[in-house]
Amino acid sequence: MTAPNMEELVSLCKRRGFIFQSGEIYGGVRGLYDFGPMGVELKNNLKQAWWAEMVYSRDDVEGLDASILTHPQALYYSGHEDTFTDPLVDCRKCKRRFRADHLSSAKCPNCGSEDLTDPRPFNLMFKTNVGPVEDEDSFAYLRPETAQAIFMNFKNILDTRSKSLPFGIAQIGKAFRNEITPRNFIFRVREFEQMELEFFVEPGTDEDWHRLWVDKRMEWWQSQGIAPNQLERYDVPADEIAHYSKATVDVMYRFPHGLEELEGIANRTDFDLGSHTKQQDTLEINAKVIQNEHSTTKLAIQDQNTKKWIVPYVIEPSAGVDRGVLAILNDAYQIETLDNGKTRTVLSLKPHLAPIKTAVIPLKQNHDGIMSKASALRRQLQKLKFGRVLLETSGNIGKSYRKHDEVGTPFCVTVDFQTLDDETVTIRDRDTMGQDRVNISKLADLLQSRLD
Ligand code: GAP
Repeated sequence: MTAPNMEELVSLCKRRGFIFQSGEIYGGVRGLYDFGPMGVELKNNLKQAWWAEMVYSRDDVEGLDASILTHPQALYYSGHEDTFTDPLVDCRKCKRRFRADHLSSAKCPNCGSEDLTDPRPFNLMFKTNVGPVEDEDSFAYLRPETAQAIFMNFKNILDTRSKSLPFGIAQIGKAFRNEITPRNFIFRVREFEQMELEFFVEPGTDEDWHRLWVDKRMEWWQSQGIAPNQLERYDVPADEIAHYSKATVDVMYRFPHGLEELEGIANRTDFDLGSHTKQQDTLEINAKVIQNEHSTTKLAIQDQNTKKWIVPYVIEPSAGVDRGVLAILNDAYQIETLDNGKTRTVLSLKPHLAPIKTAVIPLKQNHDGIMSKASALRRQLQKLKFGRVLLETSGNIGKSYRKHDEVGTPFCVTVDFQTLDDETVTIRDRDTMGQDRVNISKLADLLQSRLD
C-alpha cells in the first residue's frame, strides 16, 4: 500500500466529485475551491463529528452561529487591523508577488530575478460595504477567524445560558483571508471553514487547561482515522506566535507537501475579552477618526462566592475544516495490489465520515423487477438515517465497486435475480472485499451495527 502524492489526491477529488476549482469554466480563481457531491458529505460529516465531540458530549459548551460580515471596530480592538499581516515582496521584473517568509532565496521563484522590493506588511482581511452606499462609513470586514464573534457574544451567551467557569462556546463557519500565495490545493486558500472553541477558564488554571486541550485534540484527530505517526505537536516559538497568544501548540500533520499545521491550540489569555471591554474616546479605523463608538459592555463573569468580577482566560482549539478534509483524504487513500497483480484505489474512511454509507446496486438496470426492488430497498435504508444511501446505476457491477471503493463507501448491497426469489441480497465490505448473502429483513440491523 502506498500513500498518495498531491497530484493523485487532486485527481481523485476531481474525478469522483469531491472538490473542484472554483469558477473553473472561466479559468478558475486562485485559492478558491468548491466541494462537490462527495466533498460536501465528507465535510459535513467531519463538522458533525467535531460538533458531537465539542458540544454534545459535554455539559460545559454552548454553540453559536454568528454573522460573517464583521463590525470594523471589533477587528480594530482585536488587533487584526494592525497586526494581521504577512510580509509581501514584489518582483520588479515579472511583477509577481510573494510572501517573503515563503521565499527560499533572495531570487524571484517565478523568473529568477534578484530585483525584489523590501518586504512590507500586507493586511489579509477582505473588506466590503454593507448597504447601498459605498463609502467609509459602510465598510465591514469578512471575518478572518470565527473567534471574534464568540468574544462579542460572550455576554449574550452568559446572560441566556447562566454559565460558570470553566465553560466554552463553539462555532463552525467560514473565514476569509486574502492570502498572498494560496497553494497546496485546499491547504492554503482564501475562503475556508474553521471549527473553533473558545474555552473560558479562571486565570491561573489556563496552563493546565491548555495542556489538556492539546492532548484531547491530538486524540480526536486519531479517532477520525488519522494514523498517530502522521501527527506531531509543535510548540510555537515566541517569535512566531500570534499577537493575542501567550502560548500556542500546533497539531501538525504530514500533508502530501510536508509537515504543516492542521490545528492550533492557543492560550489567548484575557487579551480578547479585555480588548473588547477597553474604553477609548477616539479610535482610528481606515484612516478615519471615530468618536465614542467603543464597546462599553463588560465582558467579564462574576464569581458567585466572592462576587468579584473576573475577565476569564481563553484556551482556543482552532481547526481548519478544509485542512481536516485534506488530511483525512490523504490518510484514507490507499493503492492496494491485489492477489491477481492488479491494483485498486480505495479510500479507507471511517464509516461515520464516508460520503455514502451504503450503495444499492441493481445487477441489471434494464430489468424492471430488479430496479424497483433496488429503489425500494434504497428508500427503506435511507429511512434509517445513518447517512446517505445511494442507488448506483452508472455502470456494471465491477465498475460500481471500483467507484465506491474510490469514494470510500463502506458497503455495497447488490440486488440480483435471486433477490426476486428469496429476498436475499449480497453485501460487500469495502475493506475486505468479502461478500455475504443476507436476507433483506436482517440488512438494517447488520448495516447499523457495522456502521456504528
Ligand atoms: N482563531 C485562531 C486562528 O484563526 P489560525 O492558526 O490562524 O488561528 C486556525 O487558524 C486554523 O485555521 C489553522 O490551524 C488552519 O487549519 C486553518 N487555516 C488558517 N488559514 C487557512 C487558510 N488560508 N486556508 C485553509 N485553512 C486555514
